[in-house]
Amino acid sequence: MTPLILTDATEAAAAVADRIVSLVQSKPDAVLGLATGATMEPVYAAVIAAHRAGRVSFSRVSSFNLDEYVALPTEHPGSYRSTMNRLLFEHIDIDPARTHVPDGMANDTDAAAEAYERQILQAGGIDLQLLGIGRNGHIGFNEPGSRLDSRTRRVELHAETLTANRAFFEDGGVPQQAITMGIATILSARSIIVLATGAAKKAAINQALAGFFTPACPASALVGHPDVTWIVDPAAAPDAEAA
Ligand code: GLP
Repeated sequence: MTPLILTDATEAAAAVADRIVSLVQSKPDAVLGLATGATMEPVYAAVIAAHRAGRVSFSRVSSFNLDEYVALPTEHPGSYRSTMNRLLFEHIDIDPARTHVPDGMANDTDAAAEAYERQILQAGGIDLQLLGIGRNGHIGFNEPGSRLDSRTRRVELHAETLTANRAFFEDGGVPQQAITMGIATILSARSIIVLATGAAKKAAINQALAGFFTPACPASALVGHPDVTWIVDPAAAPDAEAA
């Protein structure tokens, strides 16, 4: 569980983008698990650049995003569906019908969550899951206290998450609930890359890489997965004894 420490956030994002591009080059119908958050923005910019340079086509790729806010209209610029369209999907040749984001507007969120799990299975499972990490150690929207066997479900967001994500909402009205893949859903991916940049993530990274699962830090659940790559910048790098 030694992270790759790259020179800065741009290099770290480029390394993640390279892995996505390599996977799709070798498996053109790959199933990608995608994430939102400011950390991912330079990753998607680098993926778009690779596509524009003719290095990779996404025409046969499927994608599943980790999470979505509940009761936030899809057209709202803060919804993860519109964020993904704006930052990635509209700029590459992926088939929009093969891009999946949990349906936060569903009348029956339990049924929508179950349907999402089924869709992932029907697609053959996720080849590569991209993950950021919350300041409180959350992955997707699995907040501290989430169970190891959790699957896609409706969750309440913790106060620190609401504060962190308020920046994405001009009116400050960040939704308080979300639908997220569960920890077990995430652990079902064949491989996982975690990207963390900036000093605000250092404490979470330290806990995540301590080598054992603690419910206080959902990212620590990744200790149980055989193929996880951690990519950080120097500011987010763990203390030597935790690495
Ligand atoms: C959000 C998302 C997570 C993301 C995390 C970090 O709440 N649900 O998937 O990894 O917070 O976001 P950021 O990169 O903006 O710090």
